[in-house]
Amino acid sequence: MSSTVGIPADLNVLAAHVWPAGVQRSPDTGVVSMHGHDVRELAEQFGTPAYVLDEIEFRDRIRSWKSAFDEATNSTASVYYAGKAFLCSAVVRWLAQEGVNLDVCTGGELAVALRAGFDPAAILMHGNNKSQGELTQAVEAGVGLIVLDSFEEIARLAHIAAQAGKVQAVLIRVTVGVEAHTHEYIATAHEDQKFGFSLAGGQALEAIKRVNKLSALSLQGLHSHIGSQIFNTSGFEVAAHRLTQFLVQVRDECSVELPMLDLGGGLGIAYTPDDDPLAPQVIAQQLIGIVAEQCQVSGLAMPRIVVEPGRAIAGPTTMTIYQVGTIKPIDLDGITRTYVSVDGGMSDNIRTALYDAVYTCSLVSRASAAEPMLVRVVGKHCETGDIVVRDAWLPSDLAPGDLIAVAATGAYGRSMASNYNHVPRPPVVAVTPDASRLIVRRESVEDILALDVD
Ligand code: LLP
Repeated sequence: MSSTVGIPADLNVLAAHVWPAGVQRSPDTGVVSMHGHDVRELAEQFGTPAYVLDEIEFRDRIRSWKSAFDEATNSTASVYYAGKAFLCSAVVRWLAQEGVNLDVCTGGELAVALRAGFDPAAILMHGNNKSQGELTQAVEAGVGLIVLDSFEEIARLAHIAAQAGKVQAVLIRVTVGVEAHTHEYIATAHEDQKFGFSLAGGQALEAIKRVNKLSALSLQGLHSHIGSQIFNTSGFEVAAHRLTQFLVQVRDECSVELPMLDLGGGLGIAYTPDDDPLAPQVIAQQLIGIVAEQCQVSGLAMPRIVVEPGRAIAGPTTMTIYQVGTIKPIDLDGITRTYVSVDGGMSDNIRTALYDAVYTCSLVSRASAAEPMLVRVVGKHCETGDIVVRDAWLPSDLAPGDLIAVAATGAYGRSMASNYNHVPRPPVVAVTPDASRLIVRRESVEDILALDVD
């Protein structure tokens, strides 16, 4: 995922598909705003660093995923937003208002959803090592679907459901053996990793046979997730193909037609101007087309298709605003790389350090006609790997106190934030034309100290 970037023709141009939809740069002052809210005022009011989220775009994205799959299936598909990308009460409410379901993978995510009043029947819970407590919490709350990921879990969940006097609807997570073209750490459907039951190894079929014998579990279908930040649909196509074939095998060998097929999430987004992600309409048509064709050939009723987009909804909606601190030019055999330190870093965006992720950034608090300089945007943490943007061009008159923004930080930014070096986690500010408001407040040093109980 790493690359060096070419010198942009004009540093003031913000590529529309990389920045949140409501972002604009004033042609007069060069100041960037979101839905008319000046970033300098947002920084003044909420402090920096801050995640600034375009609420209109977030809701639009939820809606367009729903309508894409509704249109492709006569409203028989279900979209479950993957809460791991970014979850808080406001997001839960937006989902409920737009009629989209929620995918959680821990008791913590489930607790956020339940506290915000989300319908438990519209929640799906997956995860490779859900605890006894998490499974009990899910069953008792009435979570609609639980994705089974191991033989231990089949027995554990059957016991919990029986004790609660419930029949729990479940899916079986299947490892389809696809090599997704993405970073190794976020690919999930090749054989040598921790998720699911192998299709090729026969464990998936065995899991289905076991679940079918348990009266406290009601098997609804198959679940698969091949990985994340994927641009090429061929991996999804192979997965859809293999899963549909497997549905036929299950019908023939187990005499059950499973009514549901969950194809997971994973669609990539634009982090740089060169990235060209697929629209949900395109992915919906392609996936539904493959499953429908194969069902027709095999005389299988079309299953209800489920998808779990996370990044493709949350990611593009948000930028992180930082204040520039120290600036240090370093000479490297004729090239100067200028280290621009900002007031956050790997504690608010671990993705660059962890996955070599590439980001786009820009000076947002003023115009500049200065020559571009090659920079590395780094954080304030005590670690050399504390890099926010590895290679970027910013104006050479950049000065301490300027504001810069990093685009497309809405997915896995706040949700993977940490307190490394006891740095409090930044707030999330939701912006509409009418208002800018906190939906997650900034953590305080008192919050951090409150955990230290000795
Ligand atoms: N469904 C399942 C079962 C998943 O495991 C995931 C992501 C999703 C849906 C949502 O995938 P998305 O549409 O967001 O790609 N922290 C990494 C991404 C890890 C994704 C883990 N699972 C990152 O920052 O790139």
